[in-house]
Amino acid sequence: MKFFLDTANVAEIKKINTLGLVDGVTTNPTIISKEGRDFEEVIKEICSTIDGPVSAEVTGLTADEMIKEARVIAKWADNVVVKIPMTEEGLRAVHVLSHEGIKTNVTLIFTVAQGLMAMKAGATYISPFVGRLEDIGTDAYELIANLRNIIDFYGFDTEIIAASIRNLPHVETVAKLGAHIATIPGNLFPKLWGHPLTDQGIETFLKDWEAFNK
Ligand code: E4P
Repeated sequence: MKFFLDTANVAEIKKINTLGLVDGVTTNPTIISKEGRDFEEVIKEICSTIDGPVSAEVTGLTADEMIKEARVIAKWADNVVVKIPMTEEGLRAVHVLSHEGIKTNVTLIFTVAQGLMAMKAGATYISPFVGRLEDIGTDAYELIANLRNIIDFYGFDTEIIAASIRNLPHVETVAKLGAHIATIPGNLFPKLWGHPLTDQGIETFLKDWEAFNK
Protein backbone atom coordinates (compact mmCIF):
# COMPACT_ATOMS: atom_id res chain seq x y z
CA MET A 1 0.00 0.00 0.00
CA LYS A 2 1.41 3.36 -1.03
CA PHE A 3 0.52 6.81 0.28
CA PHE A 4 0.48 9.85 -1.96
CA LEU A 5 -0.02 13.40 -0.75
CA ASP A 6 -2.95 15.22 -2.38
CA THR A 7 -1.47 18.71 -2.25
CA ALA A 8 0.77 21.14 -4.14
CA ASN A 9 2.04 22.80 -0.98
CA VAL A 10 5.77 22.20 -1.06
CA ALA A 11 6.34 23.03 2.63
CA GLU A 12 3.65 20.50 3.61
CA ILE A 13 5.16 17.86 1.29
CA LYS A 14 8.67 18.44 2.66
CA LYS A 15 7.49 18.22 6.28
CA ILE A 16 5.56 14.96 5.86
CA ASN A 17 8.29 13.53 3.64
CA THR A 18 10.70 13.59 6.60
CA LEU A 19 8.65 10.65 7.97
CA GLY A 20 9.53 8.60 4.90
CA LEU A 21 5.85 7.95 4.28
CA VAL A 22 5.26 9.84 1.04
CA ASP A 23 5.39 7.63 -2.05
CA GLY A 24 4.09 10.25 -4.48
CA VAL A 25 1.97 13.37 -4.95
CA THR A 26 -1.25 14.16 -6.79
CA THR A 27 -2.49 17.58 -7.82
CA ASN A 28 -5.40 18.94 -9.82
CA PRO A 29 -6.14 22.46 -11.14
CA THR A 30 -8.03 23.35 -7.92
CA ILE A 31 -5.11 22.23 -5.73
CA ILE A 32 -2.56 24.08 -7.90
CA SER A 33 -4.61 27.30 -7.94
CA LYS A 34 -4.68 27.32 -4.10
CA GLU A 35 -0.90 27.82 -4.10
CA GLY A 36 -1.04 30.90 -6.36
CA ARG A 37 2.16 29.80 -8.08
CA ASP A 38 3.21 29.04 -11.65
CA PHE A 39 2.06 25.52 -12.61
CA GLU A 40 5.32 24.39 -14.23
CA GLU A 41 7.48 25.83 -11.44
CA VAL A 42 5.51 24.15 -8.64
CA ILE A 43 5.33 20.75 -10.39
CA LYS A 44 9.08 20.81 -11.08
CA GLU A 45 9.77 21.67 -7.45
CA ILE A 46 7.55 18.85 -6.17
CA CYS A 47 9.16 16.39 -8.63
CA SER A 48 12.60 17.25 -7.30
CA THR A 49 11.40 16.93 -3.67
CA ILE A 50 9.74 13.53 -3.98
CA ASP A 51 11.20 10.32 -5.44
CA GLY A 52 7.83 8.90 -6.53
CA PRO A 53 5.26 9.83 -9.17
CA VAL A 54 3.80 13.35 -9.22
CA SER A 55 0.51 13.87 -11.08
CA ALA A 56 -0.03 17.11 -13.03
CA GLU A 57 -3.37 17.56 -14.79
CA VAL A 58 -4.06 18.80 -18.31
CA THR A 59 -6.78 21.43 -18.86
CA GLY A 60 -7.51 20.89 -22.56
CA LEU A 61 -10.73 19.15 -23.48
CA THR A 62 -9.93 17.63 -26.86
CA ALA A 63 -7.57 14.69 -27.33
CA ASP A 64 -5.25 16.82 -29.46
CA GLU A 65 -5.05 19.53 -26.77
CA MET A 66 -4.46 16.97 -24.01
CA ILE A 67 -1.75 15.17 -25.99
CA LYS A 68 0.01 18.46 -26.75
CA GLU A 69 -0.06 19.51 -23.08
CA ALA A 70 0.94 16.03 -21.90
CA ARG A 71 4.03 15.95 -24.11
CA VAL A 72 5.19 19.24 -22.60
CA ILE A 73 4.41 18.21 -18.99
CA ALA A 74 6.16 14.84 -19.48
CA LYS A 75 9.42 16.68 -20.21
CA TRP A 76 9.35 18.58 -16.88
CA ALA A 77 10.70 15.63 -14.86
CA ASP A 78 11.27 11.88 -15.08
CA ASN A 79 8.77 11.21 -12.30
CA VAL A 80 5.91 13.31 -13.63
CA VAL A 81 2.60 11.59 -14.45
CA VAL A 82 0.05 13.30 -16.68
CA LYS A 83 -3.45 13.41 -15.27
CA ILE A 84 -6.17 13.07 -17.89
CA PRO A 85 -9.92 13.41 -17.28
CA MET A 86 -12.13 10.36 -17.88
CA THR A 87 -13.85 11.37 -21.12
CA GLU A 88 -13.99 9.94 -24.63
CA GLU A 89 -11.36 12.49 -25.69
CA GLY A 90 -9.33 11.65 -22.59
CA LEU A 91 -9.31 7.94 -23.50
CA ARG A 92 -8.15 8.81 -27.00
CA ALA A 93 -5.30 10.83 -25.50
CA VAL A 94 -4.33 8.06 -23.04
CA HIS A 95 -4.20 5.54 -25.89
CA VAL A 96 -1.71 7.72 -27.80
CA LEU A 97 0.32 8.73 -24.73
CA SER A 98 0.66 5.17 -23.41
CA HIS A 99 2.24 4.16 -26.73
CA GLU A 100 4.73 7.01 -26.32
CA GLY A 101 5.68 5.75 -22.86
CA ILE A 102 4.10 8.73 -21.11
CA LYS A 103 2.59 7.75 -17.76
CA THR A 104 -1.03 8.73 -17.19
CA ASN A 105 -3.44 8.98 -14.28
CA VAL A 106 -7.03 8.88 -15.48
CA THR A 107 -9.02 10.97 -13.05
CA LEU A 108 -12.68 11.50 -12.12
CA ILE A 109 -13.56 7.78 -12.19
CA PHE A 110 -16.98 7.03 -10.71
CA THR A 111 -17.98 3.67 -12.22
CA VAL A 112 -16.47 0.25 -12.90
CA ALA A 113 -17.03 0.79 -16.64
CA GLN A 114 -15.04 4.03 -16.59
CA GLY A 115 -12.21 2.28 -14.75
CA LEU A 116 -12.21 -0.58 -17.25
CA MET A 117 -12.12 1.79 -20.22
CA ALA A 118 -9.17 3.65 -18.73
CA MET A 119 -7.28 0.40 -18.04
CA LYS A 120 -7.86 -0.81 -21.59
CA ALA A 121 -6.71 2.53 -23.01
CA GLY A 122 -3.40 2.00 -21.19
CA ALA A 123 -3.70 4.13 -18.05
CA THR A 124 -0.83 3.76 -15.59
CA TYR A 125 -3.14 4.83 -12.75
CA ILE A 126 -6.88 5.31 -12.32
CA SER A 127 -8.34 7.63 -9.69
CA PRO A 128 -11.78 6.66 -8.36
CA PHE A 129 -13.19 9.46 -6.17
CA VAL A 130 -14.33 8.08 -2.80
CA GLY A 131 -15.57 11.27 -1.06
CA ARG A 132 -17.44 12.65 -4.05
CA LEU A 133 -19.26 9.32 -4.53
CA GLU A 134 -20.24 9.30 -0.87
CA ASP A 135 -21.56 12.86 -1.31
CA ILE A 136 -24.18 11.50 -3.72
CA GLY A 137 -24.94 8.45 -1.55
CA THR A 138 -23.16 5.92 -3.78
CA ASP A 139 -21.06 3.06 -2.42
CA ALA A 140 -17.48 4.04 -3.26
CA TYR A 141 -16.03 1.04 -1.47
CA GLU A 142 -17.80 -1.42 -3.77
CA LEU A 143 -16.26 0.45 -6.70
CA ILE A 144 -12.73 0.17 -5.24
CA ALA A 145 -13.16 -3.56 -4.52
CA ASN A 146 -14.59 -4.25 -7.99
CA LEU A 147 -11.80 -2.34 -9.74
CA ARG A 148 -9.17 -4.27 -7.79
CA ASN A 149 -10.84 -7.59 -8.66
CA ILE A 150 -10.86 -6.67 -12.35
CA ILE A 151 -7.19 -5.68 -12.31
CA ASP A 152 -6.20 -8.95 -10.65
CA PHE A 153 -8.55 -11.14 -12.71
CA TYR A 154 -7.43 -9.83 -16.10
CA GLY A 155 -3.86 -8.93 -15.18
CA PHE A 156 -3.98 -5.20 -16.00
CA ASP A 157 -0.86 -3.23 -15.01
CA THR A 158 -2.95 -0.24 -13.91
CA GLU A 159 -2.82 0.82 -10.25
CA ILE A 160 -5.74 2.25 -8.30
CA ILE A 161 -5.25 5.61 -6.60
CA ALA A 162 -8.16 6.03 -4.17
CA ALA A 163 -8.79 9.78 -4.43
CA SER A 164 -11.12 12.30 -2.81
CA ILE A 165 -10.10 10.85 0.57
CA ARG A 166 -11.47 12.93 3.43
CA ASN A 167 -11.22 10.96 6.67
CA LEU A 168 -9.46 8.13 8.49
CA PRO A 169 -12.11 5.44 7.74
CA HIS A 170 -11.68 6.24 4.03
CA VAL A 171 -7.96 5.47 4.26
CA GLU A 172 -8.42 2.34 6.37
CA THR A 173 -11.20 0.93 4.22
CA VAL A 174 -9.57 1.50 0.84
CA ALA A 175 -6.43 -0.15 2.24
CA LYS A 176 -8.47 -3.21 3.28
CA LEU A 177 -10.15 -3.35 -0.13
CA GLY A 178 -6.89 -3.43 -2.04
CA ALA A 179 -6.44 0.08 -3.45
CA HIS A 180 -2.76 0.18 -4.43
CA ILE A 181 -2.51 3.81 -3.33
CA ALA A 182 -4.49 6.31 -1.27
CA THR A 183 -3.90 9.97 -2.01
CA ILE A 184 -4.36 11.90 1.20
CA PRO A 185 -4.72 15.65 1.88
CA GLY A 186 -1.89 17.06 4.03
CA ASN A 187 -4.20 18.03 6.89
CA LEU A 188 -5.53 14.46 7.16
CA PHE A 189 -2.11 12.80 7.21
CA PRO A 190 -1.32 13.41 10.93
CA LYS A 191 -4.60 11.66 11.85
CA LEU A 192 -3.07 8.44 10.50
CA TRP A 193 -0.62 8.21 13.35
CA GLY A 194 -2.43 10.06 16.13
CA HIS A 195 -4.84 8.76 18.80
CA PRO A 196 -5.94 10.44 22.07
CA LEU A 197 -5.29 7.21 24.02
CA THR A 198 -1.69 7.19 22.74
CA ASP A 199 -1.22 10.75 24.05
CA GLN A 200 -2.92 9.90 27.35
CA GLY A 201 -0.83 6.75 27.71
CA ILE A 202 2.44 8.67 27.25
CA GLU A 203 1.33 11.28 29.80
CA THR A 204 0.47 8.61 32.39
CA PHE A 205 3.70 6.67 31.83
CA LEU A 206 5.76 9.84 32.27
CA LYS A 207 3.88 10.87 35.43
CA ASP A 208 4.39 7.41 36.95
CA TRP A 209 8.07 7.46 35.99
CA GLU A 210 8.57 10.90 37.56
CA ALA A 211 6.80 9.75 40.79
CA PHE A 212 8.96 6.63 40.96
CA ASN A 213 12.15 8.67 40.49
CA LYS A 214 11.38 11.33 43.14
C1 E4P B 1 -6.79 13.73 -6.59
O1 E4P B 1 -6.28 13.08 -7.45
C2 E4P B 1 -8.15 14.30 -6.70
O2 E4P B 1 -8.18 15.31 -7.66
C3 E4P B 1 -8.59 14.79 -5.35
O3 E4P B 1 -8.38 13.74 -4.43
C4 E4P B 1 -10.03 15.25 -5.32
O4 E4P B 1 -10.42 15.48 -3.99
P1 E4P B 1 -11.77 16.26 -3.58
O5 E4P B 1 -12.94 15.47 -4.09
O6 E4P B 1 -11.73 16.34 -2.09
O7 E4P B 1 -11.68 17.60 -4.25
